[in-house]
Amino acid sequence: HGTGRINERGHLEIGGCDAVELARRFGTPLYVMDEELIREQMRRYVAAFRKTGLPFQVAYASKAFCTMAMCRVVEEEGLHLDVVSDGELYTALRAGFPPESIHFHGNNKTPFELEMALDAGIGLFIVDNFTELEMLDRLAGEKGKRPRILLRVTPGVEVSTHQYIQTGQEDSRFGFGLSGGQAVRAVKEALQARHLVLEGFHCHIGSQIFGTGGYRLAVGKVAALAKEARERLGYLPRIFNVGGGFGIRYVEKDRPIPPEAFVEAIADAVRKSFDGLPLPEIWVEPGRSIVGEAGTTLYTVGTVKDVPGIRKYVSVDGGMTDNLRPALYQAQYEAMLANRALEDPTETVTIAGKCCESGDVLIWDLKLPPVRTGDILAVSCTGAYTYSMANNYNRNRRPAVVFVRNGEADLVVERETLEDLVGKDRIPGRMRGNPV
Ligand code: LLP
Repeated sequence: HGTGRINERGHLEIGGCDAVELARRFGTPLYVMDEELIREQMRRYVAAFRKTGLPFQVAYASKAFCTMAMCRVVEEEGLHLDVVSDGELYTALRAGFPPESIHFHGNNKTPFELEMALDAGIGLFIVDNFTELEMLDRLAGEKGKRPRILLRVTPGVEVSTHQYIQTGQEDSRFGFGLSGGQAVRAVKEALQARHLVLEGFHCHIGSQIFGTGGYRLAVGKVAALAKEARERLGYLPRIFNVGGGFGIRYVEKDRPIPPEAFVEAIADAVRKSFDGLPLPEIWVEPGRSIVGEAGTTLYTVGTVKDVPGIRKYVSVDGGMTDNLRPALYQAQYEAMLANRALEDPTETVTIAGKCCESGDVLIWDLKLPPVRTGDILAVSCTGAYTYSMANNYNRNRRPAVVFVRNGEADLVVERETLEDLVGKDRIPGRMRGNPV
């Protein structure tokens, strides 16, 4: 699973590129993204929606993996882009991404971010709460703009996924609650806002979800809100954004359903739940399922420590700085030796990172051929929420990112330099007597 094949040298090959060569050429740790697979995933969503015959829009949730080259791929494939910060917005704009195809998310967009997005003329704001509704209306008025908005509602649906990435439950920091009339009041206020155009609703129930039940429930609840809004306010939503969250397979035991099945279920639920109402355009915004399986991280094996009779620790030259997910969510991954891909796994090892932190373990109990210092370890399905959550703990440098396709590798993010790490540091003048 993941991406890649094994070539005649017994090496892992990704997008037609020998992984061992990639490690040699670009250094490790290295994020390798299979560009063709990214594009294929995007096309699957679009094709699945076309089959439903309903009007739709697919946006890529850039939080999963955001670089300028990625924004170009999104644009070339004709998808919209979902951003959640000035940084993601800036990345998209600098890549030349069409502003009218950008959606802005977030529960605490700052005035600076709202103004930046208004000035750029982005396509749509997903308004999360009353504070934002008021602030955006005022800022838009000041700038003589009239942005389109969706209201994010909290459907009160709990899905089974890691607690940290559940978002649909009522006790959530995101969105207008359905109970207590919050959402209807938000519709009323949005309709009264002189500088906003209310286009519809948004909901997002969580991430890494394997089944369709939660989506069906959420669609039903938002449809009920739509009916209430029509009865009480005469309002009809033109757009319904069902969010993202479609799960992928990280390890053997994961059993996600394919994108096509999610799309069919959502379309079916919208058709059924919106009976008697005009059908809204259905929007989705997947992140993980677009890039997750397309990514592989390459590491070089460093030290090996045997705790006799207990465990063998194999340390690699990265860890929680380039992939925080195991430490944060106990996320599981699979890996192989890229340079000895055909050898039989004969030992069980634990892959540790290099950070001064016991929790910095990437994979517990991984079966590998006898590991030696200098081997290249390839961890699969690392395309989502790894580079985008990378950090400089212990002043480690963030790795480079390459896109591979048809046997060619393009550097899309340079590896950070040691100079980058101190580039923003300043030494107060009173310390100058002791220069470095
Ligand atoms: N839309 C909204 C409003 C979201 O909050 C998210 C993810 C998405 C779309 C995209 O969800 P996806 O299709 O990627 O599941 N860092 C965590 C995941 C956090 C997801 C946050 N929101 C992880 O590494 O698992």
